[in-house]
Amino acid sequence: MYIADHMISEGKGNIIEVDHVGKTYRSRENEYIAVKDISIKVRAGEAVAVLGPSGSGKTTLLDMIGTLDSPTKGMILIDGVDVSTLSDDQLSVIRNEKIGFVFQSYNLVPYLSAVENVLLPVTVKGNGEEHRERAMVLLREVGLGGKAEKKPTELSGGEQQRVAIVRALINKPQILLADEPTGNLDSKTSDEILNLLRRISKENNTTVLVVTHDPELASLFDRRIYIRDGMVEKEIRVKK
Ligand SMILES: Nc1ncnc2c1ncn2[C@@H]1O[C@H](COP(=O)(O)OP(=O)(O)O)[C@@H](O)[C@H]1O
Ligand SMILES: [Mg+2]
Repeated sequence: MYIADHMISEGKGNIIEVDHVGKTYRSRENEYIAVKDISIKVRAGEAVAVLGPSGSGKTTLLDMIGTLDSPTKGMILIDGVDVSTLSDDQLSVIRNEKIGFVFQSYNLVPYLSAVENVLLPVTVKGNGEEHRERAMVLLREVGLGGKAEKKPTELSGGEQQRVAIVRALINKPQILLADEPTGNLDSKTSDEILNLLRRISKENNTTVLVVTHDPELASLFDRRIYIRDGMVEKEIRVKK
């Protein structure tokens, strides 16, 4: 797969550090603790599965790591930088260039073709031909070379999710965050998608965090973090 710039420059440190992070939602009458107290360190290039029952705080955690949401306590460091010290502009640069997002619902634009969807994160930057070539290379690598001009409605769920994954990779992110990317897929397709995410991590040294509720699929990953009631319940590491 592609050669990422950071393969050369990236050190051996923690790309993600979650330090005693909590998130409490407050309304006038209620207080709800979505994440109680979580500390996690992820090294560059690791592929991690995040498991836990519905409502345990997985999405809230991933959104905070992706800087889409901010903690009400604790600290998150991305590549050594405390993200709470960054301006909105700096945060959007991080979100666009360092982090790729994949969601359960694919979030493809229905009137754009697969390759146009992939190019969405780069269209403002020029260099059109080069980006298009890279988009085509990536689409071919996930088996969609022949479907680049298809609209999302002409693709299966698994194909749409592969387009969404390629879109998340187009800017060569160091981190790929996927929140239940197989939630709408059958088990065989889910297996393919999680294998693809793991392969991306191994081949490009991309750090991958995937939320899944399927323990069997999670076993594809070297490291599994179980979340319960907004805390880390247990962690399983497979020795390589
Ligand atoms: N914006 C919000 N306002 C209030 N409560 C929220 C909000 N977002 C999430 N929650 C609550 O926080 C808890 C954790 O949610 P979430 O992180 O989505 O869990 P999971 O992804 O593990 O299912 C849930 O009980 C949810 O209802
Ligand atoms: Mg969730």
